[in-house]
Amino acid sequence: MIVVFGSINMDLNMRVKNFPQAGETILSRSYTMTPGGKGANQALAAARLGVKTALVGKVGDDGPGIRVQKVLRRNEVVTSGVTLSETLPTGMATVIKDKSGENRIIVASGANAEVSAEQAPSEILGKGNYLLVQMELPMEQNALVMKSARDSGAKVVLNLAPAMDIPAPMLSLADFLVVNQIEARQLGERLGIDVSGKPEKLAYALAKKGKLNCLITMGPDGCVLVTPEGEAWGMDSVKLDEVVDTTGAGDCFCGTFTACLHEGKSQSEAMRYATAASALSCMKEGTLDSYAYSAEIEEMLEKTAKVSKIKV
Ligand code: RIB
Repeated sequence: MIVVFGSINMDLNMRVKNFPQAGETILSRSYTMTPGGKGANQALAAARLGVKTALVGKVGDDGPGIRVQKVLRRNEVVTSGVTLSETLPTGMATVIKDKSGENRIIVASGANAEVSAEQAPSEILGKGNYLLVQMELPMEQNALVMKSARDSGAKVVLNLAPAMDIPAPMLSLADFLVVNQIEARQLGERLGIDVSGKPEKLAYALAKKGKLNCLITMGPDGCVLVTPEGEAWGMDSVKLDEVVDTTGAGDCFCGTFTACLHEGKSQSEAMRYATAASALSCMKEGTLDSYAYSAEIEEMLEKTAKVSKIKV
């Protein structure tokens, strides 16, 4: 089983031609409200591959909270670990997307701020299971649940998004670190690592620092994966004719990557599979609705570059 310890939001989405400048008001023709949150997105992406996935988190005692859980359950995500806040509303994200498919997001944490590691009992974090965490929940609770997973024998995948100032010992509680290039550089700088070189060099430095496998995603420039021993792989991205919406593509990558590892695929196979899934998610509007099932991902693999060994 995969346990996603993560955020649950309602996303308020608006399309604009260009992002507003400081002090500028612009109009958007319409808006949508869709379930989101990095935790919810990653759980659904993993469940799409048929892997038993449970989400542990918190929502408000309100309409958005009910709606997000309904959508998750309809998509086979186990939500018994999702509790209700008595005081705070469901987390809310404002997602603004421009004509190129890029986005700018502001998250108001709401009930996510109250999530506690105690919601994830050690019985569900045993050997054979994977714990997947991101950074939209309180950091100390993330650290506690990662420690508990480590002690109980589960593998831990840490997606450091959004980038946070985490201490090196917390990094060492993870088996895999998944970050985009910006997050990798920010983390590297905070840990006193030289971030000026190639991405694989940075991934190697982070891998050694945290004694974990480090995967850096680079959008259109592909991704690299490096072990603490310096074994490294790289691959190109899928070339898309049109990018509709990149929102949640990183979440799709993390959920798919973890599901593949859980199913026994090698790290490099999992990276390729996740690249194909996240490319597919950029071709459709929205987050959860844009996540593909296995058959479509398998088809996309034909257009997906091979993974090659690289030197660090
Ligand atoms: O990664 C995309 C997600 O970030 C959105 O769904 C939003 O809720 C924020 O958590």
